Amino acid sequence: MDILFVGDVVGSMGREMIKEYLPKLKAFYKPHITIVNGENSAGGRGITESIYKQLLEAGANAVTLGNHSWDNKGIFDFIDQAKYLTRPANFPDAPGTGMVFLKINDLEAAVINLQGRTFMPPLDCPFKKAEELIKLAKARTNIIFVDFHAEATSEKQAMGWFLDGQVTAVVGTHTHVQTADERILPGGTAYLTDVGMTGPYDGILGMEKDPVLYRFRTSMPSRFEVPKTGRKQLSACYMQVSRETGKAKSIERIMINDDRPFFRD
Ligand SMILES: [Fe+2]
Repeated sequence: MDILFVGDVVGSMGREMIKEYLPKLKAFYKPHITIVNGENSAGGRGITESIYKQLLEAGANAVTLGNHSWDNKGIFDFIDQAKYLTRPANFPDAPGTGMVFLKINDLEAAVINLQGRTFMPPLDCPFKKAEELIKLAKARTNIIFVDFHAEATSEKQAMGWFLDGQVTAVVGTHTHVQTADERILPGGTAYLTDVGMTGPYDGILGMEKDPVLYRFRTSMPSRFEVPKTGRKQLSACYMQVSRETGKAKSIERIMINDDRPFFRD
């Protein structure tokens, strides 16, 4: 039983990478479940219904979100009908859901989306919410995947240790740069602090670099834009999981860009 997870898809270049490489990755790894974080997929801010559908058509079984969930106002028109879309579960009193169940052949899996609170807007406690949802999920399956959308490495590591042995994987999103700390924790939970971003390769966290540099150098306001052309990257991870116990057996980082070409055509 294998899971493929693709980190924050940013704008049209991120979507192009999904279109080009998701089928190749799926052909090579043959994952049973594919999950994509789409919170930046519409021009870097939020997601639209048509992009959500495109991600599913490209091969995702579920789409997770994060702090940009509400940036595209059209989301309120479709989130309650979107069966495979999760926004962070610890948003207080929000539309949509923070956990979806996937049924793939005879297999059931839960996908949980949570958001951190360190250096981020205040939310309900992600640790308490995780406990609550895992209790519900365990009644149906041992295969539980957690996308923890958070800024602080410490908070992500804390969540990894907190859920070790209870879930299949805790992988981080949001900071857009892949970390090299993938491991199986002693209780059998796959962990990676941040999966990284899928989109522009030559910007700053997926944005045009010049306005970001201008703001750093002058402290003057500048408008950040997502580039539409240029070199691209894809960041992901792949996990092998015991179907019976839901424990992870391996986790591998995946990074595709001009410096690390995809060699498994
Ligand atoms: Fe984010």
